[in-house]
Amino acid sequence: MVLQNGDCLDLLKSLDAESVDLTVTSPPYDNLRTYNGSINQWCYEKFQAIAYELFRVTKKGGVVVWIVADATVNGSETTSSFKQALWFVKLGFSLFDTMIWKKPHCGAIGGMNRYENVFEYMFIFSKGKPKTTNIIKDKPNKCCGNIQHGSARQADGTTIRTTGYGKRRIAEYGRRHNVWEIAPEKSNAKRCHPAQFPEALAHDHIISWSKPNDTVLDPFMGSGTTGIACLHTCREFIGFEIDETYFRIATKRLENETIG
Ligand SMILES: C[S@@+](CC[C@H](N)C(=O)[O-])C[C@H]1O[C@@H](n2cnc3c(N)ncnc32)[C@H](O)[C@@H]1O
Repeated sequence: MVLQNGDCLDLLKSLDAESVDLTVTSPPYDNLRTYNGSINQWCYEKFQAIAYELFRVTKKGGVVVWIVADATVNGSETTSSFKQALWFVKLGFSLFDTMIWKKPHCGAIGGMNRYENVFEYMFIFSKGKPKTTNIIKDKPNKCCGNIQHGSARQADGTTIRTTGYGKRRIAEYGRRHNVWEIAPEKSNAKRCHPAQFPEALAHDHIISWSKPNDTVLDPFMGSGTTGIACLHTCREFIGFEIDETYFRIATKRLENETIG
């Protein structure tokens, strides 16, 4: 495990090209949080330089999971999330999937004249074809045990029978949707950062896009949740954090987890 306190733009430059299998991270969301002042340096140009380094350090077939949302300024969402996604694609990444992190509820953020905002984007960028995809199958199938009578829609709108039509039984569980409903970390005892991931979110991306012993990076590590999920899934972890207080919290959390 490598943990470093500093600006990830500088620290990323010290990593070898094509040395990281997977990045699971969440940058500052515009200026929604202050992060003890580290946010002062956050701007689009800084993001562009960091994304360039992420492309450089990602192995061929490696993946970057970029979890992000927009602030609302003068009545409009900033569109930062979309601008960032387009920049990643311009650098050479494929946008493998646009996933949604749905929260059960979010409180009254955004004003009462809007629908309650309950999601964040989870952009899945890959450097070429992803080399690891372990799609989680945990969606209970209502018709489990019945014979499959599936059909596939054609470009002209008509349907054709799928290959297994009438031959296979429907399994107990099917592929999960790309909208994941996971509750944010609520318990104050476990919360140690203003924008902490729930561990399940990091865990499920790690098992989806990497293998045991792969190298997983979080350049905006915060309280180190991606690192905790790496310890629980036997991945090598590299974590960077600019703020000294959060860095210390992450280090302590990861040490406690290692000791057990
Ligand atoms: C959205 S939070 C990440 C929270 C993390 N996922 C967790 O579970 O605790 C973003 C973090 O990035 C840090 N940060 C902001 N700019 C940074 C930079 N240039 N280099 C490294 N860390 C940075 C902030 O201090 C903050 O802790």
